[in-house]
Amino acid sequence: VNRAVTLASRPTGFPSEENFALVESDVPEPGPGEVLVRVQWTSVDPYQRGRMSTARSYAKPVEVGEVMTAQSAGEVVESNDPRFDPGDRVVGALGWQEYAVARGGSLRLVPESVPLQMALHVLGTNGLTAYFGLFDVGQPKPGDTVVVSGAAGAVGQIVGQLAKIAGCRAVGIAGGPEKTAELLTTFGYDAAIDYKGEDVRAELKEACPNGVDVYFDNVGGEISAAVHNRLNIGARIAICGQISQYNLERPEPTFYPSLLIVYRATMRGFLINDYAHRFGEAIPRLAAWVGEGKLRYTEDVVEGIERTPEAFLRMLRGENRGKQLVHVAD
Ligand SMILES: NC(=O)c1ccc[n+]([C@@H]2O[C@H](COP(=O)([O-])OP(=O)(O)OC[C@H]3O[C@@H](n4cnc5c(N)ncnc54)[C@H](OP(=O)(O)O)[C@@H]3O)[C@@H](O)[C@H]2O)c1
Repeated sequence: VNRAVTLASRPTGFPSEENFALVESDVPEPGPGEVLVRVQWTSVDPYQRGRMSTARSYAKPVEVGEVMTAQSAGEVVESNDPRFDPGDRVVGALGWQEYAVARGGSLRLVPESVPLQMALHVLGTNGLTAYFGLFDVGQPKPGDTVVVSGAAGAVGQIVGQLAKIAGCRAVGIAGGPEKTAELLTTFGYDAAIDYKGEDVRAELKEACPNGVDVYFDNVGGEISAAVHNRLNIGARIAICGQISQYNLERPEPTFYPSLLIVYRATMRGFLINDYAHRFGEAIPRLAAWVGEGKLRYTEDVVEGIERTPEAFLRMLRGENRGKQLVHVAD
């Protein structure tokens, strides 16, 4: 039997567990060129909120009744693709379910030396997003000040450490004193601002005495408006995500394009999928930094496929400490 979490209804505003259903079906059979995978770990991510909606986006919405789209990692059970054998460890768009069939070409092998779930965060989407968003879009130079919002999350915790590797001053913004303490002690940020308990504008002035050269934006809204106020001439703004806006029916109007003229700044949105042809360059570098202890990460694990909606909602509420994962099976 395959247990899967499907979209039961589309949310208005903040989603709830009622928007999802746990359904049982037969374990699928792989067709020609396909591989059957037994999922061991699945990922909950902010972009899945977008897939629950029919609003215009870069990908099709999940239809009501369909399995929720997700990156998952597991073990090959049966393979009709000569590149994969039973027992191989793979990662791919396998969804929130215990068994999935996928085209072999859509899967990536995970080496035995790496804990499988790392292919879902620091050596997967989150690490790659931090890497290309910072280095390719942000273009940091040694001595620059890099500000990161959503800094304690799965992407944000990596961005700050990459900024330090690039010789920059890293300033993180996150929600609550535990998260900001962790930014300083675990992730090597030079300064941390608690947007829930502190005055972000005043704290930014103190934390960025030389202004902001790169802003890695995960959240948008008022937090970003405060950062835009402190940009340096020629600043680069990497628009990675806008999580403060995902559950609003109407986005908040907090961005003024004339700022880009004042600061001769560049603002660029990016999507990690567009860098797929360069993953082979980034993954070995990220893995080497993890091995050298220069790249640390934290995981927040919920047990059982049936608790995936709960894990997703706690991540949206900011209750996750580091990468929110679901452990589906050993
Ligand atoms: N462009 C791409 O290709 C790409 C790829 C992956 C991820 N992303 C984006 O990157 C961002 C981070 O994703 P992630 O997977 O690393 O998630 P995450 O940061 O691990 O988890 C989401 C975090 O968002 C914060 N948050 C929630 N509501 C907020 C609000 N109203 N204002 C400010 N912060 C809020 C919470 O942290 P606090 O406790 O600090 O509020 C929460 O822990 C998201 O915007 C996501 O869409 C983009």
